[in-house]
Amino acid sequence: MMKVQGEIVLRGDKSLSHRAVIFSALAKGKSKIKNFLKAEDTLNTLRAMQKTGVTVIGDVYSDEFEIVSEGLHNFKSPDTVLDMGNSGTAARLLLGLFSGFENIEATIDGDESLRKRPMKRITNPLKNFGASFEPEDLLPIKVSGKKLRPVIYDETLGSAQVKSALLLAAISSGVEARIKENHPSRDHSEKMLRFAGANLKSIRQPTAENVIELKPPYNFNPAKYDIWGDISSAAFFVVLGLLAEEGELIIKNVLFNPFRDRYIDILIQMGAKIEKVVTGEKCGESGGDLIVKPSLLKGISIGKEEIPKIIDELPVLTIAGLFAEGRFEFRGAEELRVKESDRIKAMADNLRNLKVNVEEFSDGLSLEGSRGAILEGSIESFMDHRIIMSFAIAREKAWANAGYSKDKNELIEIKDLNWVKTSFPDFFELLDKVVFK
Ligand code: S3P
Repeated sequence: MMKVQGEIVLRGDKSLSHRAVIFSALAKGKSKIKNFLKAEDTLNTLRAMQKTGVTVIGDVYSDEFEIVSEGLHNFKSPDTVLDMGNSGTAARLLLGLFSGFENIEATIDGDESLRKRPMKRITNPLKNFGASFEPEDLLPIKVSGKKLRPVIYDETLGSAQVKSALLLAAISSGVEARIKENHPSRDHSEKMLRFAGANLKSIRQPTAENVIELKPPYNFNPAKYDIWGDISSAAFFVVLGLLAEEGELIIKNVLFNPFRDRYIDILIQMGAKIEKVVTGEKCGESGGDLIVKPSLLKGISIGKEEIPKIIDELPVLTIAGLFAEGRFEFRGAEELRVKESDRIKAMADNLRNLKVNVEEFSDGLSLEGSRGAILEGSIESFMDHRIIMSFAIAREKAWANAGYSKDKNELIEIKDLNWVKTSFPDFFELLDKVVFK
């Protein structure tokens, strides 16, 4: 019998942490960052900003530290390659930012996984406004900053990384941006830019499209960025709490944003008992606590229109589906194939390793769930933190379903656990704290 009980506090949201560092660097003066995500991905963004001109005061591993910057016009070329490790967000946002700074040259690189991820989605549009990248498709890429033309673009991928890279390129070049989003994506850049004093309008069209207009001059204010806990990291614990037989899990102070917490609505449609308690606003974003209770889930079919809002949670939603009654399916998610790993393949292969009958499509997958599923086998990491954490949640439930008759690692072995450091270094510690046999 699995009991999940307790109260947990999560480190800062990853998307917000990347942006808080970058926007602090754009402002002349001293900004403060509280509850920054101390994980490899976001530390890489911070290191890149340090190499291009900002100074950090205080300990980045403490609750709060300061960033001092000479502002938008004082960035310098780094004297080493900027290694973004595993982080697509860091690489893409910084390619955008540096492309618009005249006289700045930087080479951006990443690990084996990031070197395989498509960068043309950034370099292609930006080239049209005068930016220069060599090569244009895969990292390592040398960006030679140029004065760009106004950034007028129709964004069709539903990618917040593309949108944010384009906004940052307009800012570094001092030109306006007008971006039409055909599939609106997470709006943290827009909200944080407004919070930092930018003249940015976001106009929702009757057709559900969105038009973002950003206008110079770009005089950003130094600010205090107080970051909500990571709502995507919360998803692993939300699913864990739902799959339990007993207990109640409280996740404190997490970000609430309709582009990020849509997975909660989907879980509620599946029968989940989750309460959202809004406690306030910080830096233009709202947030609060989640209360999660054991629930009997049923399968669901998730369509394309939902995908941009649940893109990072699809692996763990699939685990919820694995232990739900009936068919679980998602489609229209081809973007999932170009994340930290090909997440459709990584999920399907690993589910097959556990002898689950899964149907794989080019844009999704489908399986028949069962709350009492008996699973055994071995999990490959695909060098992907979210794949590891999703199967770590599945393993807790499978272990309980097996009546704790075997050693947990013997039942399901998960390889390369260290990859969780990219986004959630204390994941296993928190898991041990709240799960009881
Ligand atoms: C992110 C945007 C998403 C998401 C990623 C973080 C961001 O990627 O998958 O984990 O912070 O902007 P896309 O915008 O490419 O979909």
